[in-house]
Amino acid sequence: MAEFQTLFPIQLYVKDKIDDYDAVQKEMLEYVNKIEWMWSDGWDSHWLSSLTFKDNPVSHLPKFSQQLAYSLEEYTKKMDFYYNTGVTLQASWFSCFHEHNYAHIHSHRGADISGVYYFSTSGDDGDLFFTSPIANAKASKAWANERVNFAPKQGTLLLFPGWLEHGVSTNTKDHARVSLSFNIQVDELRELASSDGYIRVTNKKK
Ligand SMILES: [Fe+2]
Repeated sequence: MAEFQTLFPIQLYVKDKIDDYDAVQKEMLEYVNKIEWMWSDGWDSHWLSSLTFKDNPVSHLPKFSQQLAYSLEEYTKKMDFYYNTGVTLQASWFSCFHEHNYAHIHSHRGADISGVYYFSTSGDDGDLFFTSPIANAKASKAWANERVNFAPKQGTLLLFPGWLEHGVSTNTKDHARVSLSFNIQVDELRELASSDGYIRVTNKKK
């Protein structure tokens, strides 16, 4: 008997429907209604709540922040990065994909964990897709085209490594798809500053 072992697995966290969904959506709707959407000529692909990524909407969404903190706690526990781990919210932003909008393949290299919450989607208005991070696999025809699609679902929260390349396929529907993205830094707790208002969670073992 032989067995297969998986080396260096990539953990995609999928919370199919966020807890406290109705309250989270209501809180978010109030925020989204006030967004003045911006278009980056450089990217020329979709609308953003900020081009500087300094607004940090998650810090204005306490109900969503709470759910994100629970999920980050699960993720960091699973990964067990350090014996004593904390996380800091680096940035967050809303993205809006109208008909014909999409997102180029990119990664969030400065972030340890990145994620997205689907605020408004019909499920068929642009898949998120991940491409293989294994650079050497591109030298092999059999492995080169590895790509995993993920259909958006309203209320779903995803977490993944910030270095994992991804994109969003073109929205072919005549309505807007709105999502909230964020970048998270993972720290050893002893390295964290005392207080600056960011989300903190811990996987400290009891
Ligand atoms: Fe992204």
